[in-house]
Amino acid sequence: MDINAIQAQIESDVTKAASLPELEELRVKYLGRKGLIADLTGSIPGLPVEQRGTLGKQVNAVKNRVLELLAAKEKTFLIPGSDLKKREFDIGMPGVAQDLGGLHPITLVTNEICAIFRKMGFSVIEGPEIETEYNNFTGLNIPLEHPSREAFDTFYLKDYAKMLLRSHTSPAQVRIMQNKKPPLAIVVPGRVYRPDAVDASHSFMFHQIEGFMVDEGIRFSDLKGILELLAKNVFGNDIKMRFRPHFFPFTEPSAEVDISCIICNGQGCSVCGRKGWLEILGSGMIHPNVFKHVGIDAEKYTGFAFGMGVERIAMLKYGINDIRLFFENDLRFLKQF
Ligand code: PHE
Repeated sequence: MDINAIQAQIESDVTKAASLPELEELRVKYLGRKGLIADLTGSIPGLPVEQRGTLGKQVNAVKNRVLELLAAKEKTFLIPGSDLKKREFDIGMPGVAQDLGGLHPITLVTNEICAIFRKMGFSVIEGPEIETEYNNFTGLNIPLEHPSREAFDTFYLKDYAKMLLRSHTSPAQVRIMQNKKPPLAIVVPGRVYRPDAVDASHSFMFHQIEGFMVDEGIRFSDLKGILELLAKNVFGNDIKMRFRPHFFPFTEPSAEVDISCIICNGQGCSVCGRKGWLEILGSGMIHPNVFKHVGIDAEKYTGFAFGMGVERIAMLKYGINDIRLFFENDLRFLKQF
């Protein structure tokens, strides 16, 4: 048996090993219970006595060489200075990207609209979502027999009959005017609640931005000018507006405001119901009875108020056709903003 040939074979095998598992196979092949070294050792007793010592030493030397080779080769598969396999910590591997959160489209549109009003000198104030029946209805000149006062039409709190989830942001007018006196220029963003069945354009919870301005000599033309600035800022300079007579108990006169359809440019399409116009808000001159309820002299002061649905404006701005998308937390939707 040529011990040098065996040793050369082992050296070449170990050099070629390309992974830890391959190295492990070689360890078994040479050092295992039925491996080469064990075979050689087992053959010693069958040799003539004078040869045993020499072969014994040679086998021992080969064994030590194998151990040395395996240990040296193993190191090449480990991270220097540790016993971690390189595969387990590959600094060249792409990391797991961490998603950054972003602002919800409703927050984005609310922020944008509030920023436009801030530039015009309005303050941004929030009111509570749980309101008194007085602020939500009576203070706003909404008569006792008004259908939205029905428990069925409004979310009243069970153990507090006179408390409810506000059905609009207008009660903030009452709340604020009870405490602050003119001149006032204020916008109030926030959630409102109505027991509407949920579908593509309705939700039991949505967002509004209320705005109002009160001072001596505030006129309907001030309302028009400010809303026109708003519409042009949000939808672009080409947008057209119209004021359509309407009724709200807390404004007189009242108007609903439409913008020219941003899909068809006023030609008439399925989004605007062939009308060419899209309603975006309700508005009017604050009713003298509201001033009376909050202790502001209606002979001296006048003011306008308006309230818009944020979802509606966001849907028009971004071309979203289903309000439910805002509330489902589907990242495929939210990541687009
Ligand atoms: N509060 C009214 C609504 O929710 C909107 C509105 C606000 C109308 C202020 C006029 C003045 O429909």
